[in-house]
Parts: sequence; structure tokens; C-alpha cells
Amino acid sequence: MVTATAPGKIILFGEHAVVYGRPAIAVPLSQVRATAVIERNPQSGVRLLAPDLGVDTGLEEADPEDAIAMAVRQVQSAAGLNRLPPMRITVTSDIPIASGLGSGASITAAVIRALADCLDIAHLATDQWVSHLTYEVEKVHHGTPSGIDNTVVAYEQPVYFMRRQPQNLIETFEPAKPIHLLVADTGVSSSTKAVVTDVRNSWQANPERFERIFDSCAEVAVAGRTAIQSGNQHEIGRLMTRNQALLVEMTVSSPELNHLVESAINAGSLGAKLSGGGRGGNMIALVTPETEETIHNALSRAGARSIIYNQIG
Ligand code: PMV
Repeated sequence: MVTATAPGKIILFGEHAVVYGRPAIAVPLSQVRATAVIERNPQSGVRLLAPDLGVDTGLEEADPEDAIAMAVRQVQSAAGLNRLPPMRITVTSDIPIASGLGSGASITAAVIRALADCLDIAHLATDQWVSHLTYEVEKVHHGTPSGIDNTVVAYEQPVYFMRRQPQNLIETFEPAKPIHLLVADTGVSSSTKAVVTDVRNSWQANPERFERIFDSCAEVAVAGRTAIQSGNQHEIGRLMTRNQALLVEMTVSSPELNHLVESAINAGSLGAKLSGGGRGGNMIALVTPETEETIHNALSRAGARSIIYNQIG
């Protein structure tokens, strides 16, 4: 039996603008994870099971766009194998889906790592390789993904990321001081692909305005990295709230997200913003060990469906 896991993720700065070549910062959310378990299949063939997603299928019969089946095909082709040994691949995840926490990328990365191990090609499975294959699957599900999700779930470290040709810029880094965050779920599910498409339409209709917003997001991400690397909590918080204002301008926030952001700030959070695709999903609030409980309670009262504490660094 072989097991592999991958974390969820949150975007601290720069979602959406990152699709347009601006820098962004994402960090792993290690408390919630996707897990892939591979066992010998007593019957022949490859069986794919994801009980939470209602998937129970043979690889041959799987929907060609099924993320698990695509992840398996990616590794099979990278290993140069015509046939796979009989096996049963079971995927579970405690990362909420369609909520901006990178659940799709995480499931794919976990399957890729477990299968590489199972097929004795673990030496190929560097973070970069896992990220690359995960991206190939993400493309089918997200349209024009920037590549930040697959990068942060594969590297499982804070990353400063910029989509670039011929190669993306990926710089992992450590905060000078721990960053304490609460990640609160609006309970509203949202399709990243749909929101990314809407932003594209707005950008095409009004390129100058959107380019200006994206440039401001880039400034926030650059300053955000400096603040994280110098341990300046007030500046990190200020920049998060500034980023939220820019996301509101892009029309990717929502009344539920705005309400949670305001509630966190009113309760003493140093800064708060949505995280990920927006229009639902999760928001993040910067807290300290002293303010965490008060802000947690305020988010709960404001209707957060679940609240996860995350420490970075
Ligand atoms: O909603 P998520 O967790 O998939 O995050 C999407 C981040 C975007 O910047 C909106 C899209 C992307 O591909 O980077």
C-alpha cells in the first residue's frame, strides 16, 4: 500500500492579477489535505474511488476529463508504460471543494505522488515535476490557470509566483516572523473558472481600467513579500485590506465575503481579504495569538460556516 498527501492553499496577495502576469503570493494550508491511497487490486484493471465525490469507476470507463483519471494518465505517460498493474486508487480530502482552497490541485498532486511511488519512479517526482503534471490537469478544469495553485500544493512552501514565458518565476521563501491567519468559509460555493472568465470579459471590455487594477495588485504583492520577509505584521495587514479593495473593484468579492472581511476588521484584525477565485469560498484574516479568539468569535457570529487557523512560518 502506498499513501501520499498534498495540502490546501491560500492566496495571500494577487489572485486574478496573477493570470495576467502579475506576481502573487500563496501559502500552503497544511491542516486540510487531500490523500491518495493505492492498493493492489485483487481484480484486474485500475479502479478509481473517490467516495466523497461519488466516483467509483474503472480507469478505462472513466470520464476522460475526470481529474483522477487524468492524473493517472499523466504519470503513466511520464513513466512510459503502456499498461498499468492492477490497482485500486482511493482519494479522500478534507479540503472543501469550490471554495478557493485549491482542492482540485491538491487531489491531483496527491494522486501523482502516490502513483509515482507505486510505479517506482519516485526519483522523478520532484516538486517541480509534480507541479508540472498537476498543471496539465488543472488546464482542463480551469481554462487559463495561472499555475499558482499547482505550484504551492506541490512545493508546500510559501511561494512568490509570476506566470512567465518560457518558465514561470517560482521563489519559495520563509516569513521573518510567524503569520497567524484565520481562514473563514462563506459557505457559498463558487466556480473559479466562471469568475476567471468574467474577469477576462471585463478586462476585454475595459482593458485600461483592468490593467491599472492589476498593476496595483502587483505593487501590493511586491510590498507584501517585503513585509512578510521583514516581519512587519501591520504592513502585511494593511496590504491585505488594500488587496481586498482592488478585488472589490474587479467585482470578484460578494456580500458574504465583504461581511466577513468587515467583521474581522471591526474585531481587531490587522487586515482581511477574500482568497482565491472569489464570489464565495473563503476569506482570510490576519490575527495575533492575542486577538485570535475575539476575531474567531466575530467571524462565527457573522455567519462563517467553518474557521481554520493557519500559522505560516
Ligand atoms: O479559487 P482557486 O483556489 O482555484 O484560486 C484561483 C486563483 C486565481 O488567481 C483566481 C486563478 C488562477 O489560476 O490563478
